[in-house]
Amino acid sequence: MERLSRVTRREKSSKETLDDIFDDLLKDIYWTEKHLAVKVLPKLAKASFSEDLRNVFERHLEETKVQINRIEECFDFVDGKASSRKCEVMKGLAKGCFEVIEKHGVGPVRDILLIAAVQKIEHYEISAYGTLQTMATVLRKTECARLLEETKDEEAAADIKLTDLSARINHLAVELIEEKFW
Ligand SMILES: [Fe+2]
Repeated sequence: MERLSRVTRREKSSKETLDDIFDDLLKDIYWTEKHLAVKVLPKLAKASFSEDLRNVFERHLEETKVQINRIEECFDFVDGKASSRKCEVMKGLAKGCFEVIEKHGVGPVRDILLIAAVQKIEHYEISAYGTLQTMATVLRKTECARLLEETKDEEAAADIKLTDLSARINHLAVELIEEKFW
């Protein structure tokens, strides 16, 4: 463990508590999930060539709505008010998805690129929920930590599903390219 004496004066005098930081991070992920549910996932489902991929996006949209409810429950353990703060990281990652749709026509190659873009979002979310879960545990918000862990596990499961699907669609893309040349 780092020696506490090394903590800078600036850090010691900061009025920002861990509760404040936890609250801010919760606002970020609240914005992230709402942005996903309203602007990103419906568009991705519509843009998918593979029916399996469309199903994964649609199922994840339903999961995301539940995840939003869990975050709202978590706000009850902070100050009871659910509010969001625009998350620039999520905005940039979502832009990556939209660029794929703009630049590529419907087909397996676009599906592969969509999965790649969405997996970046999943990894961001897994990391954000991991941080929040750790903080909730330290701050003794046990029920909150449990809710955050539940969502983190769902994100990890969605990421695995996307990896499996990407492998299958990659094979399909190779077959189509080979067909074109023979
Ligand atoms: Fe999520």
